[in-house]
Amino acid sequence: MTWGKKILVTVGLLVVGAIVISAIAFSYSSGCIGAPAVPEGVATMRATTYRCYGPPAVLTLETMAKSSPADDQVLVQVHAAGVNPLDWHYLRGEPYLMRASSGLGAPTDIRMGVDFAGTVAAVGKSVTQFRVGDEVFGGASGAFGEYVTVRESRALTIKPANVSFEQAAAVPIAAITALQALRDKGELKPGQKVLINGASGGVGTFAVQIAKALGAEVTGVCSTRNVELVRSLGADFVVDYTREDFTRADKRYDVIIDNVGSHGLLAYRRALQPNGILVLVGSNSRGKWLGPLIRPLQAFVLAPFIGQHLRPLLAEMQPADLAVIAAWMEQGVVRSVIDRRYSLAEVPEAIEYLETGRVRGKLVITVLRESSALALDENAGSGATQASRLSSRSSASGRRTTSSSTT
Ligand SMILES: NC(=O)c1ccc[n+]([C@@H]2O[C@H](COP(=O)([O-])OP(=O)(O)OC[C@H]3O[C@@H](n4cnc5c(N)ncnc54)[C@H](OP(=O)(O)O)[C@@H]3O)[C@@H](O)[C@H]2O)c1
Repeated sequence: MTWGKKILVTVGLLVVGAIVISAIAFSYSSGCIGAPAVPEGVATMRATTYRCYGPPAVLTLETMAKSSPADDQVLVQVHAAGVNPLDWHYLRGEPYLMRASSGLGAPTDIRMGVDFAGTVAAVGKSVTQFRVGDEVFGGASGAFGEYVTVRESRALTIKPANVSFEQAAAVPIAAITALQALRDKGELKPGQKVLINGASGGVGTFAVQIAKALGAEVTGVCSTRNVELVRSLGADFVVDYTREDFTRADKRYDVIIDNVGSHGLLAYRRALQPNGILVLVGSNSRGKWLGPLIRPLQAFVLAPFIGQHLRPLLAEMQPADLAVIAAWMEQGVVRSVIDRRYSLAEVPEAIEYLETGRVRGKLVITVLRESSALALDENAGSGATQASRLSSRSSASGRRTTSSSTT
């Protein structure tokens, strides 16, 4: 063998070895370890944790040291939390590639849940926008627990007084995803035709209402049992996918929001206007390695060769967008559809149900019953104070909605 061939073989073996080692490292899941004892005298709280990757059965309702806010953080007493597919992705550590950030072998952050609504229980010394007693909602790791900490500049906003904690807890990830899919990626304009595939799920139920609020003609796709629900949310047309395939019909859409991935990308193209936009939000694919990432990769390869726009979305929790949705909820333009409610001890059951892919709207974990909520500091949490602060926040973000929805 020549030196050139020897070098080539060596490099090849090194590359194969690196791929095999990475594959083992990414797919390996360590066993669950027990929770450490909390030292005596330390204030405690209950929170849902996962100390290893796996099915909902690995979740534990743990007693741990109560969170306390850093200087720029707000401590929120959680009243209700919302469940999202993101939760089971983290729980299972799938697709495996996400373990690059969530932890190889075992999760680095053991707390479960993101979406929450609750009452501000304490604030760090540099916090200026929130006060003890404020009713808020937003997103932070650990939402399936009695307390959660969140940086004031991150995903947190005031909850309208006429919206319940459960309604608000159902909002953050799903409604922000719907808003950013329609307004930012879909560039939806008043009068345009938009199709929402997966209109009866968490993202879809918000997308139908938000698309109407943005002035579009809305077609929702769902199964027979959800047709009335989707119509009641304001859809102008509803396609029952068990009876009709929208990609085979004559109608062409300016924008398609795909929450399901039920068709190949070429099929969606048939249903799009020549310059239409397909926004790839989600997919039912349970592939362990790439899972829902396959479709954005396919879109990346296909995009340069076609006139239509294929746009994957990775939603970002923006406080300004939360405030836009809060204002719509306060005005009754948007509401959360809640399929089932669970207690904190029933989080595993909630995630099991979500994993069936059959949820109508949202699932909510009721952490603190409204009747047992803490008595609020009258000066800090009055409805009038909350309402005026909410309107000052959403007016800035509302401008953004108006301008981007009309460009
Ligand atoms: N890109 C992002 O930033 C982002 C953010 C949030 C969520 N996501 C992803 O978006 C997807 C949707 O999230 P979600 O919270 O809405 O999920 P979900 O609530 O679990 O969706 C369930 C709904 O999907 C419907 N569905 C199932 N198969 C369908 C089909 N073939 N055609 C039409 N509808 C169908 C079901 O209705 P039937 O029972 O009637 O079939 C059910 O109502 C997930 O894959 C999620 O991971 C992505």
